Amino acid sequence: MAKIVSSWNDWDPLKRVIVGRCDNSVIPPEEPATSEKVPVDSEMRGMWGLRPLETVERGNECLENLVKILEDRGVVVDRPTPLQWNQAIGTPDFRNDSMMTCMPPRDILLTIGNEIMAAANSFRCRYFEYLAYWPLMEEYFEQDPDFKWTQAPRPRLTDRSYKHNYYDEKITLEERLVRTANKDFVTTEVEPMWDAADVMRMGKDLFIQHGLTTNRAAMDWFQRYYPEYRVHAVNFPGDPYPIHIDATFVPLRPGLIINNPHRPLPEPQRAIFEANDWQIVEAAQPAHTEPPALCYSSVWLSMNCLVLDPKTVIVEASEVYQQEQMDKLGMNVIPCDLRDAYPFGGGLHCSTADVYREGECLDYFP
Ligand code: NVA
Repeated sequence: MAKIVSSWNDWDPLKRVIVGRCDNSVIPPEEPATSEKVPVDSEMRGMWGLRPLETVERGNECLENLVKILEDRGVVVDRPTPLQWNQAIGTPDFRNDSMMTCMPPRDILLTIGNEIMAAANSFRCRYFEYLAYWPLMEEYFEQDPDFKWTQAPRPRLTDRSYKHNYYDEKITLEERLVRTANKDFVTTEVEPMWDAADVMRMGKDLFIQHGLTTNRAAMDWFQRYYPEYRVHAVNFPGDPYPIHIDATFVPLRPGLIINNPHRPLPEPQRAIFEANDWQIVEAAQPAHTEPPALCYSSVWLSMNCLVLDPKTVIVEASEVYQQEQMDKLGMNVIPCDLRDAYPFGGGLHCSTADVYREGECLDYFP
């Protein structure tokens, strides 16, 4: 029986990975925690339904570009099984008119060592997204005797989980920034809620972004679940929409992180990196001034790269400044045309979930 699942960080040599699929993707209907996360000037406000087929086909083409790059380098690529995402769903606690997608996997699956855990996402429309990955989990479970297949406690997502009328449409960017600085987010603390893409894994240390998709109760839950790890809550006061850490604070190799210059990690949170001689470098400017159409994310998906090993990184093909910077930082850069997959939930890191990276659990912050 083989060892299939193991990954402790985002930079050790990647050997097996899941890449999402855009099929049947839906722009979800408004629900308590989603409208707060859609920029006020977004063309997507108030819109919902199946995404246009030609965009789905083009998004899938982009993901195939990524699969080819990975397979050409000997990385095993697994794919989820999309559901008919425009079905209405319900639990004893809520009803929703639709689900969303199985892009991006990074939001749903968290790999820590030999464990893959499905997250406790705060969006109702994402409640059943894990099902797209269950065929793969069954396969890993059958083939790898050490694989720990886990589901984090499912949040109930009743109305108690959200602050109501948290934003009105007229809220300014400055007011949003004050809320981020005050750590005042749309979710309440009645239960742990978290997206896997808010968790940055660094061996013995987990750095978890507190923001619109992950609450404080989640940090507490993580620390109790993994008593042998150090859990650090981090936040980036420069981000008016703090969702997912991987367009904000991205490690390239041990000792080197790129940080979004609009969202610097504040003191005293920087201290642990500085005390251990990690260099925090401002990421290069994005090549674009706008995200593509029907995209939730910011232009900073430019820094959402996939590190293949401590010397090799895949960067989106049009992000020339980010490529140039990585090159200067001593990385071999592989460009990948992926921009038209951004509307489905993110860039290269988002579009993937780790299954196997060589290496072990090290203490980078002794
Ligand atoms: N909130 C992030 C998305 C990260 C993948 C951004 O849009 O910058």
